[in-house]
This record gives sequence, C-alpha cells and structure tokens, in this order.
Amino acid sequence: MPPVKSACCVIFTIWIIVPQLCLCPVQATFGTTPNIKHIVIGRCFTYTTLIQPGLRYDCEEIWRQFEKAVVQQASCNVTEEHYFEMFSMMPQVWPCDRFLFWSKTRMLVHSYAAVFRHFWTLEDTLVGFLFNDLIWCGQEEDSDFDFNSCPAWSTCRTHPVYSLWKRASQNFAEMACGNVTVLLNGSITNAFNRKSMFGSVELDSLNPQRVNYVNIKVVTNPEGPHIESCGQGSIVELIQILWSRGFRWTCTNSDLTLVILQCIQDLNQPSCQMLASSMLQQKDQSST
Ligand SMILES: *[C@@H]1O[C@H](CO)[C@@H](O)[C@H](O)[C@H]1NC(C)=O
Ligand SMILES: *[C@@H]1O[C@H](CO)[C@@H](O)[C@H](O)[C@H]1NC(C)=O
Ligand SMILES: *[C@@H]1O[C@H](CO)[C@@H](O)[C@H](O)[C@H]1NC(C)=O
Repeated sequence: MPPVKSACCVIFTIWIIVPQLCLCPVQATFGTTPNIKHIVIGRCFTYTTLIQPGLRYDCEEIWRQFEKAVVQQASCNVTEEHYFEMFSMMPQVWPCDRFLFWSKTRMLVHSYAAVFRHFWTLEDTLVGFLFNDLIWCGQEEDSDFDFNSCPAWSTCRTHPVYSLWKRASQNFAEMACGNVTVLLNGSITNAFNRKSMFGSVELDSLNPQRVNYVNIKVVTNPEGPHIESCGQGSIVELIQILWSRGFRWTCTNSDLTLVILQCIQDLNQPSCQMLASSMLQQKDQSST
C-alpha cells in the first residue's frame, strides 16, 4: 500500500532499528574475548532466569553448539550454516509492534529503548544478548578459540562474528510484525546504507505481509551536521524501496523525544539550550 501522506505535512517517522550489529570492523589486533565461555553461559543464565524467566533454553548446549561451529575452523571460514544447530536451540517469538532497527545510531538507540521499554532491538533477543560486544574466532589446527588475534571483518566474507550477526539479524527481521521503527543517523551521508546490516540484511528480510508500518525516524546530532532527512539523501532511496515492496511507511525528522534524549546528554549545545528555554517558557505560561 502506498504511504499515507496528510495534505499539509508529511509525517515522517523513522523506523528501522538495526540490530546493534555494528558493522565496525573487529580489530585484527584483538583475539577472542577472554573468558568468552563464562560470559556467554553466564549471560544465558541471566537471560533465562532474570530477563525472560520461563523460557526453557539449554545454556550449556547452546554453548557447545556455538563452540562446535567456531573451533577447528579456519578463522575466516565460518558460514551462517555453521551456526544453524545453535540457532535451532534458541527459537524465540516476539510480540508485534516492538521491533526497533537502527543504523549508525547505536548509543542513542539504547537510551531510546531504555526509556521506551516496549521496544526491542536485536540485542534484546537471546542471541543478541549472549554475543553483544564479543569477539571470537577459531583456528584450524587447534580445538580452541584463538585468543591472540582474530581477523578484521573486512578481510573475509565468512567471518565467524559477521556470519552469526548476519543470521541473527535476518531472523530478527523476518519475525518483525506490526509497526516497525527504524532509527537512522541524519548527520552522516548514506544514513541508509545498502552495505549496513540494516540495508543489506534486515530490510530485505522484512515481510510486507507481516509489517503494518515502517516508521522511520531520522536523528541528527544536536551540534550537526544536518546532512540527511526524510526528503533528502539516501533516505529517499529507502522510502522508494519500501514503496516498491508494498510497505506502508512514515518518516519523521527530529522526533522530539529523541532530541530531548540527546540533549540530556549535552545540554550545553546551543540547539538544546533553545529547546530547554522554549520548554521552560511553555511551562511558565501554563502555570500562570
Ligand atoms: C573452508 O571450508 C570449506 C568447507 O567447510 C573447506 O572446503 C575449505 O577448505 C575451507 N577453507 C579454508 C581456507 O580452510
Ligand atoms: C551519527 O554518526 C556519527 C558518526 O558515526 C556519530 O558520531 C554520531 O554519534 C551519530 N549520531 C547519532 C544521533 O547517533
Ligand atoms: C502504527 O503506525 C501508524 C503510523 O505511524 C500509526 O498511525 C498507528 O497508530 C501505529 N499503530 C500502533 C499499534 O502503534
């Protein structure tokens, strides 16, 4: 269905919450995160005991399947298929209207999701929670992880970290239903980047039959620059793709909640001072 535009103003909402898969290259100078086994198993028990109690997952077995996928493989030779067993051990269904995708807005998206607790990002799924911020790779000759160094993402197509996140992102986007929100960064060129996890994996995995609206929100840094917006730059391309695939969408620039969240972190920005004084004025007016 075509996007609904109101006559006077197009309400642009941004929606894609790209999993926090950051496409930033993993530094080649770092090896597998020390204590990865304890971290992953510990996070798994935390998740299944405290965060989503009642879910029955076998944390030890998830670890075993993960280890099996990664060790004794060349460090750049782990495909998504290697993780199939592991993913099959952690099926997860999410309620609709909560999916939050993002790209290049990592810090902000997490404050946003912390305030609006109903939003879920990829990091709120079990797999995202387990592996967030970790690095890992195996080594062909050894039945252990390589704790000394792992290749950068950019150096191989089947990087063990990339392959896991790619599959996780795809599963997450395929599950998405109802209204979906996407946060994009208007302070950079290519806010919508076909090479990002959102642009290359998640967008293509969204199902127009399941998704009611794609609500895009474009945020810029309070200090600028203001490079892209709903009507300008790569976001126009995103909207065209959504349109052609039959999605309904909205797009919003400078969503007030997001602006306030950013300003809380740096009230000294001139644009934030203006916002604060206009809010105080309104308060004065309403209290007099
Ligand atoms: C990568 O894996 C494939 C199949 O699992 C294997 O045939 C190939 O030899 C491996 N390549 C390297 C460099 O280990
Ligand atoms: C936008 O991207 C720039 C460069 O990566 C980053 O410094 C900035 O924090 C991002 N802005 C937001 C709102 O996430
Ligand atoms: C979904 O998004 C549309 C467009 O922003 C909005 O009108 C509608 O109320 C939203 N529905 C839910 C359940 O959030």
